[in-house]
Amino acid sequence: MMRTTLSVIKADIGSLAGHHTVHPDTMAVANKVLAEAKRTGIIVDYYITHVGDDLELIMTHTRGALDTKVHETAWNAFKEAARIARDLGLYAAGQDLLSDSFSGNVKGLGPGVAEMEFEERQSEPVAIFMADKTEPGAFNLPVYKMFADPFNTAGLVIDPALHGGFKFDVLDVYEGEGVTLNTPDELYDLLALIGTVGRYVIRRVWRRQDDLLASTVSIERLNLIAGKYVGKDDPVLVVRLQHGLPALGEVLEAFSFPHLVAGWMRGSHYGPLMPVSQRDARATRFDGPPRLIGLGFNIKNARLVGPSDLFDDPAFDGARKQAVEITDYMRRHGPFMPHRLEPAEMEYTTLSLVLEKLKDRFKREEDVAKAKQSIYSKESNE
Ligand code: 13P
Ligand code: 13P
Ligand code: MG
Ligand code: MG
Repeated sequence: MMRTTLSVIKADIGSLAGHHTVHPDTMAVANKVLAEAKRTGIIVDYYITHVGDDLELIMTHTRGALDTKVHETAWNAFKEAARIARDLGLYAAGQDLLSDSFSGNVKGLGPGVAEMEFEERQSEPVAIFMADKTEPGAFNLPVYKMFADPFNTAGLVIDPALHGGFKFDVLDVYEGEGVTLNTPDELYDLLALIGTVGRYVIRRVWRRQDDLLASTVSIERLNLIAGKYVGKDDPVLVVRLQHGLPALGEVLEAFSFPHLVAGWMRGSHYGPLMPVSQRDARATRFDGPPRLIGLGFNIKNARLVGPSDLFDDPAFDGARKQAVEITDYMRRHGPFMPHRLEPAEMEYTTLSLVLEKLKDRFKREEDVAKAKQSIYSKESNE
């Protein structure tokens, strides 16, 4: 049986009018590179899209994850697109390409990667979710809901094939160490970790009964790779659907609540994750609000059938309206936490400069009080 690999690789290679949207010419040149890779048989099929300023390459092939040729194809597509971005004077051209040279695969070079290799089921439905102005941990809450919350996913209760539960691989992105937790039995331990979204990130989900790989998330944190602010990580989530896995509708249900995520404006603010159609996949207000698109495909003999634009639907108007209301509410906090991120998570930070400038002016409270005291006693003696 042929094994199929789905590789979603993304990067911000520069954008139009700020961190807003990709330019069609950059997508066109990436398309040329992928068309050539399809012609020469490196990949079987592909689809190119974008969310906000992030260029997304969705590729299918039979070469397994971390394949050098597939990754080199993606890298070349990003390099070419960045070249066009420079020619057009686009903003932050080459933003996520942290290296000039490619060595084996794109990991650690800046692009985000979500890949899964599997044996195609008779019908292989998948959903691909792509977000802008946020970080990989933004998917912790919805992925938890899809695979572990019976109030979201009816199948956990009523479908014997889901009833055995799922395994979550959780990565500590600071230490680079992972742990696997089983649900439902270790639900509370899982939540204790993944509630800290900036550190513990759900990396993969497996079905327990047969170790079927059900979902994967891109976990790159650019700021941790680069050691300085280089843009947000703008993650990707791939979910296999149906037939012993959550149904498409159960997976989409998890995004009906526009939860707060980190990464809005300058990578330094919390805001609601707003599910939008491809048409509305552009960051606008305060460079957001953070946006999510979803595309549904079937995969047949490694060919991509589709997509369907999953949030292009009035059923998500309520979530969008709520996201706009939350936007108004959060924005009124201006530079105050918890709209602004906590200092340790701040990526564009002047805080250290301000502290340096003021360091000689900081005085201990009791010294200030003593100084005041001596002034008063001097005055009263006079
Ligand atoms: P089984 O019903 O064969 O376990 O598998 C269903 C499925 O979703 C993966 O093949
Ligand atoms: P991106 O990470 O999407 O490039 O956004 C950067 C930013 O700071 C937007 O305000
Ligand atoms: Mg950008
Ligand atoms: Mg982006």
